[in-house]
Amino acid sequence: MTEIPHGLIKGVVLKRHDWTTSLFSLFVEAPINAYQARQFTKLALSDGRGDWVRRAYSIVNNPKQADGHQRMEFLIIADQNGELSLCLQKLNSGDEIFVGKDASGFMTIDEIPKNADDLWLLSTGTAIGPFISILETPLLEMRFKNMVLVHAVRTQSELIYQERIQQLFNRYNKRFHYVPIVSREHVTGTLCGRIPTLLLSREIESRAQCQLNKTHSFLYICGNPNMVKDTSDALKELGFNKHLRRKSGQFSSENYW
Ligand SMILES: Cc1cc2nc3c(=O)[nH]c(=O)nc-3n(C[C@H](O)[C@H](O)[C@H](O)COP(=O)(O)OP(=O)(O)OC[C@H]3O[C@@H](n4cnc5c(N)ncnc54)[C@H](O)[C@@H]3O)c2cc1C
Ligand SMILES: NC(=O)c1ccc[n+]([C@@H]2O[C@H](COP(=O)([O-])OP(=O)(O)OC[C@H]3O[C@@H](n4cnc5c(N)ncnc54)[C@H](OP(=O)(O)O)[C@@H]3O)[C@@H](O)[C@H]2O)c1
Repeated sequence: MTEIPHGLIKGVVLKRHDWTTSLFSLFVEAPINAYQARQFTKLALSDGRGDWVRRAYSIVNNPKQADGHQRMEFLIIADQNGELSLCLQKLNSGDEIFVGKDASGFMTIDEIPKNADDLWLLSTGTAIGPFISILETPLLEMRFKNMVLVHAVRTQSELIYQERIQQLFNRYNKRFHYVPIVSREHVTGTLCGRIPTLLLSREIESRAQCQLNKTHSFLYICGNPNMVKDTSDALKELGFNKHLRRKSGQFSSENYW
């Protein structure tokens, strides 16, 4: 038996839910330490020959859920050329999996400047996961006036979590705004195109019925690194600045690869 590397602990797959042929949720139980909404940890598998493949994955569920923080959901896209994601897609209930004991990541609610009371969450693909985790935080409505979730995907079949999104509408009422974007199909009720262009044309604000504002808005951008770069450029063009701990700004980002 290969020794488990430092920082990883053994967990078990509870179930796998396939959203599409390449997009799936993996439900895992492992005794990991407490974490905050919007953080990520490592998932790892051994190749049985002494080598380990490990990658970062965001935790979709909110740690304050009734099931406790050690039952986790990960939303994953299997990359046909990928080393780990294809193996994760083959896991089933009862299979062994290794998980990073300590989650990390700075894009948490605590990091948002206190003056910001409209929270904008801009995601592509699987990066909707950590934003669901933030939006399901208890009492989030006490912290923000408006919460805007933008999810950009290639095809309609990837506009997932519709039930949870409906629950967010029920919970926050008119303070929750959802902007689905599909880039490779024309789908009624969604915007067509890419986030940066739709920000510059103001179509995202119009669809959200909420206006971006330099004093009160804060944006988290997460997902495809090209989208993160192009969206950051678009926001700078609109007069917004990157948020740094030493200099407060209006947006912050995380690349998925
Ligand atoms: C902080 C952080 C959080 C992450 N959270 C998630 C997550 O919640 N879900 C998830 O599926 N991935 C997530 N990733 C990406 C993940 O860590 C792996 O890189 C990914 O699963 C590919 O691993 P691989 O070994 O299969 O492929 P690799 O051999 O490592 O990479 C193959 C290629 O896949 C592409 N790719 C990698 N990740 C993605 C992705 N998420 N969406 C689209 N294309 C991608 C890139 O082109 C990459 O070059 C996260 C990455 C970081 C840094
Ligand atoms: N999605 C699938 O059906 C599918 C199936 C099998 C495998 N995969 C693989 O899985 C990986 C992830 O695919 P994914 O669809 O989750 O993620 P993705 O390629 O990042 O696409 C998600 C969304 O991001 C948009 N986007 C890409 N570059 C952008 C940029 N520079 N600025 C703004 N928006 C941008 C895409 O628009 P565009 O459509 O305009 O690029 C799409 O709407 C890829 O490696 C892919 O090859 C995907």
